[in-house]
Parts: sequence; C-alpha cells; structure tokens
Amino acid sequence: MAEQSIGQNEPPSHHGGLENLDTEHSYWIDQYDGAIPQDLEGTFFRNGPGRQRIGETKYGHWFDGDGMLCAFSFKDGKAHFKNAYVRTPKYLEETEAQGIKYRGFGTQIPGGFIKNMGQMPANPANTNTVYHGGKLMALNEGGHPWELDPKDLSTVGEYDYEGDLARGQVFSAHGRVHPKTGDYFNFGAGASGMGLKGPKPCLNIYRINPAGKMINKGQVPLEHFPFCHDFVITEHYAIFFIGSIVFNGMAGVMLGTKTISDVVAYDDSIDMQVVVVDLDTLETVKTFSTGDGAIVHFGNAYERGAEIVVDGCYQNGFEANATLVDVFAPESKFAGGWYNRYVLNMETGVITSDRLSDVNCEFPTFNTSYVGKPNKTTYMACSVENGYNGFFNGIQRIDDDGENSHLTLPPGYYGSEPLFAPAKNATREDDGYLLEVVYDGFAHKSELQILRADNIHDQVARLPLQHHLPHQFHGFYTPEVFG
Ligand SMILES: [Fe+2]
Repeated sequence: MAEQSIGQNEPPSHHGGLENLDTEHSYWIDQYDGAIPQDLEGTFFRNGPGRQRIGETKYGHWFDGDGMLCAFSFKDGKAHFKNAYVRTPKYLEETEAQGIKYRGFGTQIPGGFIKNMGQMPANPANTNTVYHGGKLMALNEGGHPWELDPKDLSTVGEYDYEGDLARGQVFSAHGRVHPKTGDYFNFGAGASGMGLKGPKPCLNIYRINPAGKMINKGQVPLEHFPFCHDFVITEHYAIFFIGSIVFNGMAGVMLGTKTISDVVAYDDSIDMQVVVVDLDTLETVKTFSTGDGAIVHFGNAYERGAEIVVDGCYQNGFEANATLVDVFAPESKFAGGWYNRYVLNMETGVITSDRLSDVNCEFPTFNTSYVGKPNKTTYMACSVENGYNGFFNGIQRIDDDGENSHLTLPPGYYGSEPLFAPAKNATREDDGYLLEVVYDGFAHKSELQILRADNIHDQVARLPLQHHLPHQFHGFYTPEVFG
C-alpha cells in the first residue's frame, strides 16, 4: 500500500469509483510495486456495472448499470488487464441513444407509467461471472446468462443451455460447483403455474455437468415470491434462506407506476425460512424457521454428522437499498451485515446461530475447492469506521479457530470482494493469494493488490491500472490462463 499524506482536507469519498469507465482497454501491467508471484497462474475475472450514467442521465439504481467484465491474467510473473462491456440489447441501444431505453430494477423509461406498463426489467448482465463447462458467463438474476469469449471478453450472446433454460426462467448470479461431481448448481425465482391466488411462487433449480450440459431441473414450491440472491450446497443438499426482505405491491410494478426497488422492503414480522433440498431429487427434504433476518451472501456450508453448517452475512434491515437508488448521494452509507454461523440439525429440526465477528462485512469468499466441505478460513470485504465514509475499506479474514485478522485501508482508498487464488501446487487451504481491487480516490485510479492469503498484511505486489475501475460486485478465479 502506498502511503498517502492526508493533509488538512478530508480524503476523497468512494463516489469517484462509481463514475463511468466507458473505454475498453487491453494492456500488460508493466509498472508495479513488488513482485508478481511465479506460482500465481490463472485468470481473475470480475463483473460489475461499468457505468451509472448514460449521457447526462443517472440510472435509478446501482443494479441497473451495464455489466462490464474485466480480466487479470497471470503467468510467469507477468500480468495482463482487459475490460469489455457485455453487448446486451440494453447496452447497445442505450449507447446508441445516449439515454435510457429500458426499464431496470429501480429505473423507469422516461415518459411516465404508460411507457413502463407491463415491461420487465432488462438484464444488464452485471453481477457475477463464472467459467464452467468451457464457457465464460456474465450473470444477473433477472435473466439468462450471457456468454463471452474468455480470451478477449467479446460477447458471444445470450445462452440458454441448448434450450433447457426456458424463456422466462431466470438464472441467479450465484451458483456453486459440487466438490465431487464438478456439476454446477444454479437457481432462479419463478412460478410453477397458476393457482387460485395467481402465479404459484417457486425456486427453479438447475444442475449442469462439467461438460456444460444441463442434466436436471427441479421446482421447489414457496409461500411467496422470494428475494433470494445466493445459496449454498453441501455434498448432498442445497440450502436456501428465504428471509424477511419481500416485495409489497407488484401490481404497481406491472402497471408501470412503481419500480421493483420501490416495493422491496424489510418486514420484521416475517421469519426466515430455511429450505433444504436434496441435490439428487431436487425436492425439499426439510424446512427450518428462525427469527426475522436476511442473508444476501453466503460463505461455505458443509455436513457434520446429522448437522448442516451454513455461514453467511446476516442483516436485519434493508436500509442499504436507499443508498443503492442514488449511489452519488453525498450521505450515502453502504452497509453490510455480520458474519453468522447457522447449524441445522436434520434430525431434531432445531436451528441455532452464532455471530462469528462484530465487524460490518459483506461478500464472503473462500477457497472454492472447499465448496460443500469443512473449511477453515473465510475472507470478506468489511467497513471499518474511520470517520470518513461507510464504503468498504478493509478486508477481514475469519478462521475457525477464532483468529480473526483485519486489513484496513487508509482513508480515501476503497476495497471490494477479496477473492482467493490458490498457488500452483498448493498444499494448504490458505496456500495462495488474495486478489483485491482497490480504488484510490486521490488518483482516481484503481489497483490490484496481491496479498498472501495466510497473512493478509503481507502484500506481495501492487499493480496500478492506467484508469479507475468502477466498484464491482463479484469475481471468479480459474487456473486457466486466457489472453
Ligand atoms: Fe451477489
């Protein structure tokens, strides 16, 4: 980390990191501090909204900015960077028009309700990315995946698994690769048909084999349409937490008078329901109920005798949505949750929870070769009160043995989801690196920090980019080298 002199003035806020990056780049990073490890070989993909404005108009929600992938490739102690927008119809038409042409999660088409009536939000392909079955996908839970060429990030097109993902069946931004089979599980909120009270809510669950072929689909019925963003798997189960964030008043959305963001709310009278699904039958085998709450992002989960252990970021409100609606508001405060561990007893039906850390955090990640198996270490972005700003400004490492460590960035620097990249020939769970994109508000540029995963205070390299990277959501690391 470069030392900065703060001086008399307040350090820059995170808002600069929300400005557009309209230019697409591809270059070798040849000026950097430290040494790029020889045993770091692979590609680090990230996705997030690359622009929050089109022409002079701001989008009505952070979730509505167009997806821009970037890729850092590492080999032989060298690093290459590139970025490219996903060429969705929304991106292409709004770029041409330099104005809003599509409805979003919190964005209306100009012209009043009549222009928005019956229009579904567009898929901006902006939330996450996965490389599985030989395909690189940009993911957003409001639509189908978008396939990109991993070598140059050019858009191949919308992908429906050879027709197995039906029109109208959405595909989450968060999937999980099974530890034994290599199958990729994903899901989407949907309707299983019409009932007396209207569409019958359900979760569609998809199973895709390592060759990229969808080999099973299932539907899990639910009481109401869920806000369900992420889930976990163990060796035998998929576990969904249906929380207290709900949609109230979808009729207004259909009539065009309201956005989905207008009607999403936290209701503390609704308890969290935990739904455990058998991975082979894709049918519910047990449900648990606990107090009100919501878990937007999970860490890992695993089986322990008759118990299932699930880690995730718990929150008991959704005030964050007000910030997401106007990301440039000076008073905006980005809030995360607290890292909790849930234990589900499949014999007794009892669910218990413990708080693993009191630090406000989000975006938990871990060594993904441990998906569904007992793991020791989780990493996450966190917000540490430093008197300046509530955006992510640090990393937390939580160990099962109770050892928690924190890396706090200096004021004016803002962090992101830290992703674990294993060293070649790794011999331990934390034998590798944490890849952390940091926005430097002083220079209005971003950098990639490469930290030792077993000691997050040990920075082995700092790779400045030639420009800033708009704050992104999620990433994926593969040991395959592209580019
Ligand atoms: Fe997410």
